[in-house]
Amino acid sequence: MKNFAHRGFSGSYPENTMLAFRKAVEAGADGIELDVQLSRDGVPVVIHDEQVDRTTNGIGCVRDMTLEQLRALDASCRFTGQYGVNPIPTLREYLEFAQAQPIVTNIEMKTGVFAYPGIEAKVCDLLREFQMEERVIISSFNHFTILRMREIMPQLKYGFLTETWIIGAGKYCHDLGIPCYHPLYRSLTHETVRELKQYGLQINTFTVNTPEDIRDMAEKGIDMIIGNYPDMAREAIAALERT
Ligand code: G3P
Ligand code: CA
Repeated sequence: MKNFAHRGFSGSYPENTMLAFRKAVEAGADGIELDVQLSRDGVPVVIHDEQVDRTTNGIGCVRDMTLEQLRALDASCRFTGQYGVNPIPTLREYLEFAQAQPIVTNIEMKTGVFAYPGIEAKVCDLLREFQMEERVIISSFNHFTILRMREIMPQLKYGFLTETWIIGAGKYCHDLGIPCYHPLYRSLTHETVRELKQYGLQINTFTVNTPEDIRDMAEKGIDMIIGNYPDMAREAIAALERT
């Protein structure tokens, strides 16, 4: 079972910052999950909320601010003052780093509230430039985004994200030709897992933050967990593999 760091090592460092991404790699994560939106001037940036208010020292919507304005903020959120200033990364900055690391990246396209027209092509251009096509999984709660992006770059691996308990999720993904399903871990019962496996789906689940839940996911044969504590997850998975 693969261990992905949710927004980087976000349990102990400011989420979606280069510091959290570096720390995730140091902690031995197999991969990193991050969130992408567009600045007002159309640059893909790495941030979770549509507003900067919770995670930075600024206020306002990401899509109303230029890259220069966004970069002037400190995204240290609940760790303010502990680790210096941590800017909002651009996706380009992240890919420059990730290119040299032995990890896979789960790029979540944050288009559930604002669609950010053109974001799919911009992310594809960057992946092509950095030759990262085979080292990413693209997911989104907005399934139209996934289908649009697949038209641009069919060779990428895609997953549908959900926060609800969908009936027949395996068939849904299969019928649309999407190989990965990214559900809330609580919705993974023996029944739902059986249906997903029946369709041969890769199951990548979030947000798994305790050894008990990691064990439960391993016992159910889940392919990947996405969690805030990649150090703990690595140890928990290693212990399970020893037994
Ligand atoms: O990609 C898994 C997970 O990150 C989705 O939820 O709200 O943490 O972006 P959220
Ligand atoms: Ca996310």
